Amino acid sequence: MTASMPTRVLIVGAGGREHAIAWKLASEPGINAVYVAPGSAAMEAEARVTALPGVDPLDAESVTAAARKVAAELVVIGPEAPLAAGVADALRLAGFAVFGPGRGAARIESSKAFCHDVARAAGIRMPRFGSFADPAAAAAFARTLAADGHGVVVKADGLAAGKGVTVADDVEAALAAIDLLALDASGAEPFVVIEERLRGPEASLIAIADGRDVLAMPLARDHKRLLDGDAGPNTGGMGAFSPLPDLDDGAVEGLLDAFHRPLLAELARRGSPFIGALYAGLMLTDDGPVLLECNARFGDPETQAIMPRLAGPIGPLLLAAAGRGLRAAATAAGIRGSVLPTLPGSAVAIVLASAGYPDAVRRGEPISGLDAVIAGGDLVFHAGTRRDDAGRYLTNGGRVVAVVGRGDDLAAAAHRADAAAALVSFRGAQRRTDIARASIAPPEIVPPGIAAPASAGAAGVAGGAR
Ligand code: AMP
Ligand code: GLY
Repeated sequence: MTASMPTRVLIVGAGGREHAIAWKLASEPGINAVYVAPGSAAMEAEARVTALPGVDPLDAESVTAAARKVAAELVVIGPEAPLAAGVADALRLAGFAVFGPGRGAARIESSKAFCHDVARAAGIRMPRFGSFADPAAAAAFARTLAADGHGVVVKADGLAAGKGVTVADDVEAALAAIDLLALDASGAEPFVVIEERLRGPEASLIAIADGRDVLAMPLARDHKRLLDGDAGPNTGGMGAFSPLPDLDDGAVEGLLDAFHRPLLAELARRGSPFIGALYAGLMLTDDGPVLLECNARFGDPETQAIMPRLAGPIGPLLLAAAGRGLRAAATAAGIRGSVLPTLPGSAVAIVLASAGYPDAVRRGEPISGLDAVIAGGDLVFHAGTRRDDAGRYLTNGGRVVAVVGRGDDLAAAAHRADAAAALVSFRGAQRRTDIARASIAPPEIVPPGIAAPASAGAAGVAGGAR
């Protein structure tokens, strides 16, 4: 038996993650057409990929009409906002095979309080937390955590593109963050989650889920902070790499048992089966892995580093997950166990972001060097660009592009990614120069005879090295 391959796929979204998914699917045998709604000019430059710029990804009717028009056999929803808006529900009602959870299951990402609630019911470890509608009660809980000797993390309770989190260095910073979030609070609904701050390296484990079964993508690590050395504010992610030298792929089965499978069972028990990419953001503490966050979608920029590492087609697996038959499709594809087969080697993705990111960003800057990256054999996934009448790419968003270097090992991949990123320029470009570096074993980067530096440690500074 062979798993059935979708021949026409519609991807909802327009960012770097969606570009990487489109690039991967368009290369797979049997796929004739990949549509991206709304997509971008850069995505359309890929063979067999067509952008649908008129589609509003948050408007269920607009997306459903597009799916009908292109006769999509599978719809893959990239970002969280369409999921939270119920676009997957509307597509399913209209009869489409959809890879992406309905609004109910997507709350695992769109409400941090819901994620804690599901995790607690499923017996999954998360940091101590409280969820508050009242700023004074939130401040009191922050003070209690601080008095117990814990650092404090303040999170907006809603979708914030990874930017609504303050990992506070002291209780004053936590109180200031609460005050800031309270400005937009209604007073009735919980607006803030306060958590105990944990420490350790982070890991993103993303699994294809069909409501019950899972198939894990290779492990990856994101770098959330804007600046080298994990300094500066949290962002949507400034770079990522895969695999992780400090967490072997052999650990994945155990992590799926500890996190993904219980989450799926609890969501199914509540009548919201999760079909889509279930992302567990883990912190690897001295006491074992702890769940920091759940996302209801593929990670960005983890996906840009993961897709180039996959050894086989994912189209049949996403379609099978949409139809709740993942296990049979995996068996048909010759996959043993619950981990997707990977190519040898490593991949490192480095994000180039606009001036001003993650706050107000400047747009419209001409970008140079993209062709040179591609000519050198590295990859470019566009997140926020547009093409002008002369065919030049201009910046058009916070995160602009990710360049991806591949190599035999992490050091080689990081070297390629750095060299590729150095070729790309636009006015005000921001990027990190230390993506993956803390995870490269010192002997590989330190010449013999020179003492190895004390590990900058994946644990590193506030916010971890993800
Ligand atoms: P989240 O949006 O919940 O993933 O948080 C974004 C980032 O903030 C995470 O990737 C971590 O780097 C950091 N973070 C979140 N929660 C905690 C926590 N409880 N302790 C330490 N760091 C955290
Ligand atoms: N890279 C983190 C996220 O996708 O939320």
